Amino acid sequence: MILVCGGAGYIGSHTVQALREAGRAVVVCDNLSKGHRQAVPKDVALEVGDLQDRTFLERIFTKYAIEGVIDFAADSLVGESVARPLKYYQNNVAGTLSLLQAMEAHNVRHLVFSSTAAVYGEPQRIPIDESDRKQPTNPYGETKLAVEKMMHWQGKGGKLTYVALRYFNAAGAHESGQIGEDHTPETHLIPLILQVALGKREKIMVFGDDYDTPDGSCVRDYIDVTDLADAHIRALDYLLAGGKSVSLNLGNGKGYTVKEVIEAARLVTGHPIPAETAPRRAGDPAQLVAGADQARSLLGWAPKKPELEDILRGAWKWHRVHPDGYGEEEK
Ligand code: UFG
Repeated sequence: MILVCGGAGYIGSHTVQALREAGRAVVVCDNLSKGHRQAVPKDVALEVGDLQDRTFLERIFTKYAIEGVIDFAADSLVGESVARPLKYYQNNVAGTLSLLQAMEAHNVRHLVFSSTAAVYGEPQRIPIDESDRKQPTNPYGETKLAVEKMMHWQGKGGKLTYVALRYFNAAGAHESGQIGEDHTPETHLIPLILQVALGKREKIMVFGDDYDTPDGSCVRDYIDVTDLADAHIRALDYLLAGGKSVSLNLGNGKGYTVKEVIEAARLVTGHPIPAETAPRRAGDPAQLVAGADQARSLLGWAPKKPELEDILRGAWKWHRVHPDGYGEEEK
């Protein structure tokens, strides 16, 4: 049985779906603070509770024969993390600490962990290699780096092997259009652009057009959420087969400017998507592009949807079918 923490969230729910498609036994735990009950397939057990609640975790680890854990449960808004750093240390660091304690107590030794490109901060070079300088510029990145270090030391003690997956910009949705991205508030570029195409917003603001990039707007490496899901399963199988602990970048290795993303979305949606230049957003690096050769060689991973237009098509299907996301729900 695989335990997926945060399995009702965006990347978590896509990984649960992929595990189920692969015929794997899964249990989800989620506190539903950001996740959505409807994002978890009906035939998958959903245990509602918080990782910081040791009694809750004790019950999960006793009830299910867990062989490995995939942990997505975290707060992940860069701006909010600057405003409320302690919330991020509490939820992201204390939450995973509690999970690691429960794993140790129950002799569960394998963890795939959601990390982020934000651990690097302002990159030294593009594409970014896993060994490059890690100097986060916000508490969100700091908390993810802190957990990577915690796992490192726990691993040295012989009680854990882990894969930390450093995502670049997750985007897209499952081809069914039944699960997708639904954040409140929404701050990510692609969902906001598609809300303009849906008529829910008047225009998209381009945060800065004076960066040292081909058209002056920021460059990001967008990676399809289903390709991320595939990498998690491969990472888990790698650990179950005796693989050593490692941190890996997950991206396509190709960057697109904000203006290019808007243009591609115009093609995919057929909507003019008005755009307007706005001041730079604090803390945004000019470029973030992954060097992801290690994930390819170690996990045999290769993105199946590397083209931005295909990623946007998946996202567009989800947003068209679910213009209000998952909608109101009982927690
Ligand atoms: N952007 C706009 N207008 C908007 C929203 C975003 O121009 O309305 C720009 C941003 O300035 C950035 C790019 O679009 O250049 C992408 O922004 P997102 O907010 O979609 O994503 P980020 O690159 O800021 O964030 C991502 C992940 C974070 C992670 C971070 C690492 O979503 O979880 O990369 O730096 F922390």
